[in-house]
Amino acid sequence: MPVVRYDGRTEAFMGARGYGRGLDGVWRDAAGRSFAQALSGRPSPSAWVRTWGCQMNEADSEALRGQLQGLGYAEAADETGADLFLLNTCAVRGSAAEHALGEVGRLKQVKTERPEVVLGVCGCLTQMSETVEYLRRHAPHVDLIFGTHNLHDLPALLHRAHVEEAQTVDVWDQAPETVEHLPLRRAAGVRAWVNIIYGCDKYCTYCIVPTTRGRERSRRPGDILAEVEALAAQGYREITLLGQNVNSYGHDLGTYDFADLLRDLAAVPGIRWIRYTTSHPRDFTPRMVEMIAATPKVCEHFHLPVQSGSDRVLRWMNRGYTRASYLQLVAEVRRLLPHATVTTDLIVGFPRETEADFRETLALVEEVGYDNAFTFQYSPRAGTPAARWEDPVPPEVKKERLDRLNALQYALSRRRNEALVGQTLEVLVEGESRKDPGVFTARSRGNRLVLVPGAPGAEWRFAHARITSAQTWTLRGVLVDIEHADASPRGSEPVAPLGA
Ligand code: SAH
Ligand code: SF4
Ligand code: F3S
Repeated sequence: MPVVRYDGRTEAFMGARGYGRGLDGVWRDAAGRSFAQALSGRPSPSAWVRTWGCQMNEADSEALRGQLQGLGYAEAADETGADLFLLNTCAVRGSAAEHALGEVGRLKQVKTERPEVVLGVCGCLTQMSETVEYLRRHAPHVDLIFGTHNLHDLPALLHRAHVEEAQTVDVWDQAPETVEHLPLRRAAGVRAWVNIIYGCDKYCTYCIVPTTRGRERSRRPGDILAEVEALAAQGYREITLLGQNVNSYGHDLGTYDFADLLRDLAAVPGIRWIRYTTSHPRDFTPRMVEMIAATPKVCEHFHLPVQSGSDRVLRWMNRGYTRASYLQLVAEVRRLLPHATVTTDLIVGFPRETEADFRETLALVEEVGYDNAFTFQYSPRAGTPAARWEDPVPPEVKKERLDRLNALQYALSRRRNEALVGQTLEVLVEGESRKDPGVFTARSRGNRLVLVPGAPGAEWRFAHARITSAQTWTLRGVLVDIEHADASPRGSEPVAPLGA
């Protein structure tokens, strides 16, 4: 897969139009006008980016925001005054798609009141030809439609959307190259997402992602390492490696795999915690589990999406593992890291799933004793094999199965959380809770949400929290110490006791 640099591409496009990069990193013409000012004709243009879907889509939105910043768009505080709207959509289930399309419909009113506003729709949903067809027919107020493979072309796409009369549509089926050095406007804090592999080659029979994200492409280890070193130098302390299937990292590169990558990234000074999402149980090798166990910077949270506990359903889903091989992987994790958090994704009501299949799922959930699970009712996605299969299971039966599964998982989550009361966990404090003023949120290494009393100066510091009570989704605790911001890597003695 060829690799290109974003800056080189953009320079060629901008240079041809008489733009140069100012000291503030913003592209301006000879008169000092930013690209955004020239396009919109407004003195201080702003953009509003809305995101649905998974962390990969969130990371894509950081690339959209980073590019918008370089073009001279401010981030709109809310949607009322925004000059540009970008809706970064998700297609994984019908509900996500409907939600985003509902938003497209609602924004018609904004376009009626302020016709100069530019509305763009991008992301996974627009990679589906039926969505493009739908927007063409029913949403002429959408100015710009692009997909997941050309979001790095935002300057040229926005230019076209402003000059072309008709709706601008530019969606690519596959990514012809990997783009490096994308400008990213990351969320506040010391935690950063780092893409390591794009696309998915697994073709689970229910899943639209291989269509929307294309074939698997791994970034080169050197590019990832350079990004992580730069993050550490900027003060980031936690990274989350992203991919639809991080465990297949490197399959297209040769012999260097995910375990090698974890080992090499863990050697970067300054990075304290490493997370990764999402794993595929089929590609999770024993060597990867051993590497995680032997690498203290890698957090002991295993998200192992199982989808079903029934072997025949797993086969129909094309998951490539059996109940027994999955349980063996969990056993290996528990053997090497007995205190690891184990979470999963589950689908109920897959076509032809019987009550007996479903009970196997319940039994597996009980047997593993997951800390948490994302549970979904099967949603047919156009173009996937399963969507064409006969499905005699009535919707109310599927709903009832989902309720039963949730009741079991809630009880398990609560029990697992209650077992932590009285223990002291290492956490990364985030900051004030949005819902609860005076309360800070923190995340444990095992990715548990811990609520602690607000402690000024604790934001984005590593700390220890003693757990005082447990609920289904959250733990409550008190901070027993906070480490200095520049504390050395994990294992150092905590300092700055709070006297708690
Ligand atoms: N690559 C990841 C998952 C991406 S989608 C993985 O394989 O684990 C996240 C979750 O959405 C999946 O794990 C699955 O549980 C769920 N999902 C995907 N397609 C779905 C569909 N058509 N209906 C219901 N749930 C679905
Ligand atoms: Fe979808 Fe399966 Fe790929 Fe996950 S591994 S993204 S569920 S096709
Ligand atoms: Fe949704 Fe696309 Fe992610 S379909 S779950 S945003 S890869």
